[in-house]
Amino acid sequence: MSLRKPKLAPQVTTLWDYPSQHYGEGQQGSQAYRGATPSYVVWNVVHRFSSPGDRVLDPFCGSGTTLDVCKDLGREGLGFDLAPSRPDVRQADARSLPLKNRTVDLVFMDPPYADNLTYSDDPRCIGKLKADGRYQRAMRLVLDECARVLREDGVLAIYVCDVFQKGRGFYPLGFDLFEMARAHFVPVDIIAVTRHNRTLEMGNYRKAADEGRFFLRGFNYLLLLRRKKEGAGGARSQGCGQ
Ligand SMILES: C[S@@+](CC[C@H](N)C(=O)[O-])C[C@H]1O[C@@H](n2cnc3c(N)ncnc32)[C@H](O)[C@@H]1O
Repeated sequence: MSLRKPKLAPQVTTLWDYPSQHYGEGQQGSQAYRGATPSYVVWNVVHRFSSPGDRVLDPFCGSGTTLDVCKDLGREGLGFDLAPSRPDVRQADARSLPLKNRTVDLVFMDPPYADNLTYSDDPRCIGKLKADGRYQRAMRLVLDECARVLREDGVLAIYVCDVFQKGRGFYPLGFDLFEMARAHFVPVDIIAVTRHNRTLEMGNYRKAADEGRFFLRGFNYLLLLRRKKEGAGGARSQGCGQ
């Protein structure tokens, strides 16, 4: 089913919706990449929280959606991933980025949602970690690293979904990450982003949810936080690179 692509416009409420993975004529990132971020979400974050020429980091860059949006909006995109899928995404672990302290203006991240999807065989892949504490510990280190490289007052945007797995239960990853991030960041806002995943419309999924008395994930969180000023619960001071 092909989805309509309305004109791209800034989202102005705390409920975001757009009926396509991509905006405009082309693609941002790759349609074929499992777990790619809807590009209008990245566009809205970059549009609102950065200015032309700013450095925008995506430490889980996947198919490069953030880099393509940055190109469209005249920002300098810095994309890293454990398993880069194109040459302008550089290889790095999100817990240890080759960037100097406080050299980034905005961070956008769409991390794995615990072990919901397999991304690569790399043992460092955070997508292999269960939400029983192991995922949270790894993400705490990612948040430390974001706080280290982000300038004071810079914004961190986290696009994430809670996880429900039959037999394993419900894990409120959105709440977990928001709470953990508050060690270095102050809340700006929380946006609910409507999901258009095809499985949400599939009869067998809907029937299983109704009969099994659980809910399919209908929205993602977009958690928005601003880096605390130095001395107000600061970040690690180390780091190398550009
Ligand atoms: C949800 S996907 C990101 C999708 C991306 N925003 C896009 O639009 O294509 C999560 C990504 O995190 C990467 N990843 C998992 N563990 C990582 C780690 N420790 N460091 C860096 N990247 C990691 C995976 O390889 C995967 O590409």
